[in-house]
Amino acid sequence: MDPSLGGDKQPSPAVMLRQTAEKNGLDVLSAEFAAFMDQNDPLREFRSKFAYPRKGGLEATDPSLVDPREECVYLCGNSLGLKPLSADQRINGILQSWANCGVEMHFREPVPAALCDQYGRKSLGNLVGADEDSVVLMNGLTVNLHLLMLAFYKPTTQRYKILIEGHAFPSDRYAMVSQAELHGFSPKDAVLEVNPRPGEHIIRTEDILKLLEREGQSIAVVCLSGVQYYTGQKFDMGTITEAGHKAGCVVGWDLAHTIGNVKIELDKWGVDFAFWCTYKYLNSGPGCLGGAYVNKRHNGSITGRLKGWWSNAEETRFEMRQECDAAPGVEGFRLCNPPPLLATLVLGSLEIFDEATLPRILDKQYLLTGYLELLIKSHFGTDQVKTPLAEIITPADVNQRGSQLSLIFSYPLEQVHKELGRRGVVCDVRLPNVMRIAPAPLYNSFIDVHRFITILKEVFAICKIEAA
Ligand SMILES: Cc1ncc(COP(=O)(O)O)c(C=O)c1O
Repeated sequence: MDPSLGGDKQPSPAVMLRQTAEKNGLDVLSAEFAAFMDQNDPLREFRSKFAYPRKGGLEATDPSLVDPREECVYLCGNSLGLKPLSADQRINGILQSWANCGVEMHFREPVPAALCDQYGRKSLGNLVGADEDSVVLMNGLTVNLHLLMLAFYKPTTQRYKILIEGHAFPSDRYAMVSQAELHGFSPKDAVLEVNPRPGEHIIRTEDILKLLEREGQSIAVVCLSGVQYYTGQKFDMGTITEAGHKAGCVVGWDLAHTIGNVKIELDKWGVDFAFWCTYKYLNSGPGCLGGAYVNKRHNGSITGRLKGWWSNAEETRFEMRQECDAAPGVEGFRLCNPPPLLATLVLGSLEIFDEATLPRILDKQYLLTGYLELLIKSHFGTDQVKTPLAEIITPADVNQRGSQLSLIFSYPLEQVHKELGRRGVVCDVRLPNVMRIAPAPLYNSFIDVHRFITILKEVFAICKIEAA
């Protein structure tokens, strides 16, 4: 099964799951079926590569309700991925190298500190569909967004707008507002939003394309999220990039919720720039290094980059020249020497991705998120007559989503979240209305999803009593 195939030929995950259950004489809604799926999961060994939290380690859990020794139900990899067990050894290795040889660690194998961000570029490139020379690890996401905008946002009096999605992540919005202000534009005029139609949650591709056709001449930069943090909608990045270019715009993508979560083909799509963090689906730890991509066709013609000594080409960096001999492409966006303590965590994570491989991760995602969807719809969906207890606002089309499903409840969001937390479920809410549930194929199981649904049922029963 190739989830990237799309189109009508691909059966829905629900059909596949029901067929599998039927073939094996199991009830698709039963815990036995979840256990069966776990036994037959080609990635089942990967969970043991992660520190999977126990309920007792979480502040939200109520010890009168749960056994603290049990594993929690962690469905929050869209926010912060779990810690790979290799992280301790990797960090200790760096500390040890520092202890053993001081400044010599900068150029000592296995991971010379001064070059640590050069390692793993091939793996990183694979995850975003780019040549390794077009990607770097540096800074954090928002810093990278600003650095890239300084080079790619060249407003004129005619073409000065920045297109973002209406419910863009606040940091992206603030960054774009401040970029517009930096160039003397009023953000109210210069930061343009594309929104879902009234009464809808998802932004239709056709509406984005129409907007680009209609207003493209005034737009300097199109910068949406590959996967939207609030709704879990995956945009058609290839089509939107093409339409943006046709309208004469520069096109960049925020890949925070996209990398490691869906297939990305930046080179093929001809994207101008992209940026991401590595602490969500890439599991590299809170606030860890971000990444950036610049299409090679811009090499040599980029102006407006800020510079530091790490922007200097590696070959001449230590000649300590008066003038910066800037590296031509994305490497020239680096400013500081890289932090090996952080880079090593990203390398550890990339090693896991190299072993699991994205196609296998996406195959499992298709079934695992599909299973979550099937259970939600079966237990809390259409058979609830008028209002479903839990409505999924993420697209049902697997080609328009990744691991995350965003849910809206008919009971108060905070109450549902609190009661889930007391029972050892870790997931997050995003205001105003949404709970995000993201089973991560690398470490989540079908049983995790089944447990979540069982607990959610319990929570709804409590909400019902309290609402009466
Ligand atoms: C879509 C999106 N953009 C930007 C950010 C901000 O990231 P950072 O704090 O690493 O700059 C986040 C963080 O979760 C995000 O989800």
